[in-house]
Amino acid sequence: MTLRDAVIGDIDALMAIERASFSVPWSEGSVFREIGADDGIFLVAERESRVVGFAIARLTVPDAELLNLAVEPQSRGFGVASELLREILARLETRGVTAVYLEVRQSNDAARRLYERHAFESVGRRRRYYDEPTEDAIVMRREIL
Ligand SMILES: CC(C)(COP(=O)(O)OP(=O)(O)OC[C@H]1O[C@@H](n2cnc3c(N)ncnc32)[C@H](O)[C@@H]1OP(=O)(O)O)[C@@H](O)C(=O)NCCC(=O)NCCS
Repeated sequence: MTLRDAVIGDIDALMAIERASFSVPWSEGSVFREIGADDGIFLVAERESRVVGFAIARLTVPDAELLNLAVEPQSRGFGVASELLREILARLETRGVTAVYLEVRQSNDAARRLYERHAFESVGRRRRYYDEPTEDAIVMRREIL
């Protein structure tokens, strides 16, 4: 598996993963805007020249927010998200970030376990943050030392 920066040519593969992963997917325009953004990091994971997952962070140094993370359904459970997370955290560190925040659906056990394994801690809750279904978000935070 290789990790690299997202490019415009990835948009169809990214949207297919986004739509397969979320009940309220980001629009194509929203994904497009994050590609090559100065204040962000947009990584894709590629296996045999196929995009299988991606991660997006936005920087407001010294903080950053993990905005989106998804792996195509058939490639889950093989450590793709862990690799994306490891690399994005390393890159954030080189850009002076000391704390990373994210929001996750309360019921999203796979994602919450993943984040906990990567040393994120729950620090808050946003009530009724998500639609379809309506659900609280858990706010998680990890320091980069
Ligand atoms: C959450 C998500 C990104 C995780 O992606 P993933 O690539 O499956 O994650 P990983 O493989 O790194 O870790 C997931 C599990 O696979 C296991 N795993 C890791 N490497 C493995 C391997 N080589 N063989 C078998 N299992 C493995 C991990 O131990 C982990 O197991 P656990 O959750 O039971 O403890 C993915 O499920 C997804 O895209 N979900 C929909 C979108 C989403 O919810 N995104 C997060 C929004 S906040």
